[in-house]
Amino acid sequence: MQVIIFDDAQQVAENAAEWVAELVNKKSAPVLGLATGSTPISLYQQLVNKHQLGQLSFKNTTSFNLDEYLGIAADNAQSYRHFMNENLFDHVDIDKTKTFLPTCNQGENPREQGLAYEEKIKQANGVDLQILGIGANGHIGFNEPTSSLASRTRIKTLTQQTLTDNSRLFDEHEFQPTLAMTMGIATILDARYVLLMATGANKAQAVKDMVAGPLSAMCPASALQMHENAIILLDKAAASELEDQDYYQWANNQNIKINQEFGLYHNY
Ligand code: GLP
Repeated sequence: MQVIIFDDAQQVAENAAEWVAELVNKKSAPVLGLATGSTPISLYQQLVNKHQLGQLSFKNTTSFNLDEYLGIAADNAQSYRHFMNENLFDHVDIDKTKTFLPTCNQGENPREQGLAYEEKIKQANGVDLQILGIGANGHIGFNEPTSSLASRTRIKTLTQQTLTDNSRLFDEHEFQPTLAMTMGIATILDARYVLLMATGANKAQAVKDMVAGPLSAMCPASALQMHENAIILLDKAAASELEDQDYYQWANNQNIKINQEFGLYHNY
């Protein structure tokens, strides 16, 4: 894991945007894995800015989102499709027919839909860079604690903690789904690079469990310890429970020097 600690959430977003821009500008047919939640909103703002400045085109990009709620239509303001349109897709030149979410409409079999999503990712030659947030309980996507570390795209029942955490986004009388389709942990680990963003003190414990272990289904994000290219971008508050902060800073400075001397090397 490459743990990088920034002064604040804005710097986390700026750095995450650099990673995305590097991929999208470098590869002829980039495949992005995208996330929802409040954390990546500032990343998407950065990407929209870069696009508007003419520095970034998503014309050839395909995207796969991590997860989507069950039981609400795509045009519902609470759907993750709606979130992605509002925060990114409507403001850049991405071809929306190449943007995918793991949906399961009424009457569709979630197991078949999960397999079909896996197949679609395979046909696109896999995800190059997967953006991730982290739940306060250590979930990634909607892989809640006890999720199999070998899981694939499937239906999940959300935990009470996740429902409570996300209830701030729903009006009092609005339907809050308790089921979601989500990429599995093995699906996420298949991405060539994963970039996890975490900001705020309420993520500090989950970040500690993810980085310092143990590897456990009780903290699904700890599975990233098994990934060859996992980059963890934190603000100071989210890093506050980590013991080896000086080491991470020092190691990152060494990386910057190596990159300056030999150039960036991302094996997309
Ligand atoms: C949601 C999403 C996750 C997200 C997490 C944290 O439930 N399914 O992909 O990372 O919760 O969200 P936030 O960034 O709002 O804290």
